[in-house]
Amino acid sequence: MQSSVKHKLLEVFSKAGGDFVSGQALADSIGCSRTAVWKHIESLRQEGFELEAVRNKGYRITAKPDKVSENELLLGLETNRLGKHIVFKESVESTQKEAHKIAEEAPEGTLVIAEEQTAGRGRMTRTFHSPKYTGIWMSLILKPDLPPHRAPQFTLIAAVAVTEAIRDTTGLKAEIKWPNDLLLNEKKITGILTELQADSDRIRSLIIGIGINANQQSFPEELSGIATSLALEKGEHVPRAKLVQAVLKNIEIYYKEYLNNGFSSIKEKWESFAVSIGRQITARTLNGSIRGKALGITEEGVLRLEDEDGVIHSIYSADIEIDR
Ligand code: BTN
Repeated sequence: MQSSVKHKLLEVFSKAGGDFVSGQALADSIGCSRTAVWKHIESLRQEGFELEAVRNKGYRITAKPDKVSENELLLGLETNRLGKHIVFKESVESTQKEAHKIAEEAPEGTLVIAEEQTAGRGRMTRTFHSPKYTGIWMSLILKPDLPPHRAPQFTLIAAVAVTEAIRDTTGLKAEIKWPNDLLLNEKKITGILTELQADSDRIRSLIIGIGINANQQSFPEELSGIATSLALEKGEHVPRAKLVQAVLKNIEIYYKEYLNNGFSSIKEKWESFAVSIGRQITARTLNGSIRGKALGITEEGVLRLEDEDGVIHSIYSADIEIDR
């Protein structure tokens, strides 16, 4: 089936929101005969979609395959701009790398997503473990007309958006650990990496990389004490496409809020989701460690830390540990 026909079909089913769509309505919307509709329905079935067909009512989709390709993501996507253009790959070195390659020409909201990353990238040149079919490995391209120094705020926007998406989709109480990790029961479930293509005074493209441990049942030994997955914490499989859709919807909402009203309401949300605020922490920076109480973040996303002598430090980049 032509991919444009497939997208049209999935869009019609998506708008119907789980209701039946008549064969005639499908035929009209994609401009083909009812026999052709039947063939298209069969090819969706071949791809793993489950469809119910009832006489005089038409068709409805009852289940979709647990993949994160364009088809699964478009069905049920409730955004206006984000994720309308999707670049899906079975396997890539890194979705960040792919997104950088296409960012210049890509329309705003383009999503690069893969089933597997063979060289997933983390912060500070670390690698990010991204095994096949289990997690969400995605990079979203935004093009805000803003100066480059505003870019770090987008990591915080993404952290708030993903935290809420996880809480709403799974009921699990994800929390944020400054600057860009999400935790569940003190173990990492998500990493966020925001990168830039910019002129000296203007962002050209912002590439927000998000990695969510969704359905892994185990981790390599070096990660098992510090990382977990949504499925391990919840005890059941998590539908990845639904979670991606929720993430995109939330980012769209907070992005709009940010452009219209600034950062303050997002900052408040971020602080309410953060595990470290108000607690004793150790921040390990390149220039050494500082212990103290995490007071909050600034409008730029800089962590404010008060040490035992009452001196307030601004932490721009560090790994933090929460003291017990
Ligand atoms: C971190 O925890 O240090 C950040 C991890 C960011 C991982 C995501 S997965 C999708 C995107 N592609 C990458 O190579 N990295 C980001």
